[in-house]
Amino acid sequence: MLRSVVTGVGGYLPTEVVTNDDLAKVVDTSDEWIRERTGIRRRYRAPEGVSTSDLAVEAAKQALQRAGRSPSEIDLIVVATTTADLTFPAVATMVQRKLGCPVGIAFDVQAVCSGFVYALAVVDGFVARGQAKCALVIGAETMTRLMDWTDRGTCVLFGDGAGAVVVEPGEGQGTPADRGLLGFSLRADGAKQDLLYVDGGPSSTGTVGKLRMQGNQVFRHAVVNISEAILLAAKAAGVEVADIDWFIPHQANQRILEGVARRVGIDEKRVISTVADHANTSAASIPLAWAEGVADGRIKPGDLLLIEAMGGGLTWGAAVIRL
Ligand code: ACO
Repeated sequence: MLRSVVTGVGGYLPTEVVTNDDLAKVVDTSDEWIRERTGIRRRYRAPEGVSTSDLAVEAAKQALQRAGRSPSEIDLIVVATTTADLTFPAVATMVQRKLGCPVGIAFDVQAVCSGFVYALAVVDGFVARGQAKCALVIGAETMTRLMDWTDRGTCVLFGDGAGAVVVEPGEGQGTPADRGLLGFSLRADGAKQDLLYVDGGPSSTGTVGKLRMQGNQVFRHAVVNISEAILLAAKAAGVEVADIDWFIPHQANQRILEGVARRVGIDEKRVISTVADHANTSAASIPLAWAEGVADGRIKPGDLLLIEAMGGGLTWGAAVIRL
C-alpha cells in the first residue's frame, strides 16, 4: 500500500517579536497573568506588507531543502490557513507562483487551528491514489491581523508564523512499522460555532472581522475532544499511546497541552512545546513545533509522532505518523 511519508519539515517566524510587556502597554494585562494562565512569553508578528503567503513560502523553502526536493517537483500544494492574503485566490496558488512550481493541484483547507491535521489527511487521499508524487502541506497564518486589540481575553494569545512538510508516497506493508501517516481521526461540531469565530466575512459583513472567543468554554472542550481524537487516531494507526516518541500538540495554551498529555498518559518529557515563544499560530503551530523538534535533534528518523489540534468550528483531530 502507498503511505504518505513526510520527507522534510520547515518553519518560519516573522521578524517582529511582541513580548507580554509590550501587550501590557496596549491592554489591561500583565506578563505574570499571561504566563500563569497560558505559558506564553512572547509571540511573533508579521510586519506590514508581509502576508500569509510570504510566511508560507519561507517555511516551504526550508521543508523542500530538508527533503532534498526542488519546487519543480511539486505537484500538489495544500495550505491550511484561516488568514488568507485575499478572499481568493487560495494562498496555495500564490505559493505555487512565488516558488515557481509547475502547473499542478493547489488549494486551501479552512479548519482554523485544526487545519494542518485536516490538510495532511486530505493530502493522504491524493497520495494513496497515486495522484501526487511530491506534495507540500503548509500551515500558515497571520492571526495578529484578526485581533481586536481592545480585547485582552484574545489578543494576548495569538501570533504569526508558518510551518510546512513535504509529503511523498512510500511503499508500506500496512503495519504500524511502516513509514508515513499511519492513522488519523477528524471531527467537527458546528453547533459550537459561537464559542470561537470571526465576526466578519465576504458574504455577511463584507469586512474581515475580529476573532471572538469564550475562552474558558473552549478550554474545557479542547481537553476532552482532543483526548478522544488521540485515542481514535492511535487505534486507527494500530499503535498504543505509550509507543509515541514525540507528542506535537497544537500550541494554544500550556495548560491545555499538559491536561491532554495527562489525560491520555503521555510523559511530559515526550511533549514538544513551543507555546512560550510562538503563542498560538493556529494552523501553523504543529509544523512549526515539529520543525523545531527536528532542528534541535530531538525528533529523529523512525520516530513515531502524534499530532493533534482543536479550533474554531469547532473542529478537532489527531494523526499518528512514523518518520
Ligand atoms: N490579562 C488579565 N486578565 C485577563 C486577561 C488578560 N489577558 N484575559 C482575561 N482576563 C480576566 C477576565 O476578564 C476574567 O476577569 P473577571 O473574573 O474579573 O471577569 C478573568 O481573567 C478570568 O477569565 P477567564 O476567561 O475565566 O480565564 P481563564 O482562566 O479561562 O483563562 C484563557 C483565559 C487563557 C483564554 C483560557 O480560557 C484559554 O486559554 N482558553 C483556550 C482558548 C484557546 O486557546 N483558544 C484558541 C483556539 S482553540 C484552541 O486552540 C484549543
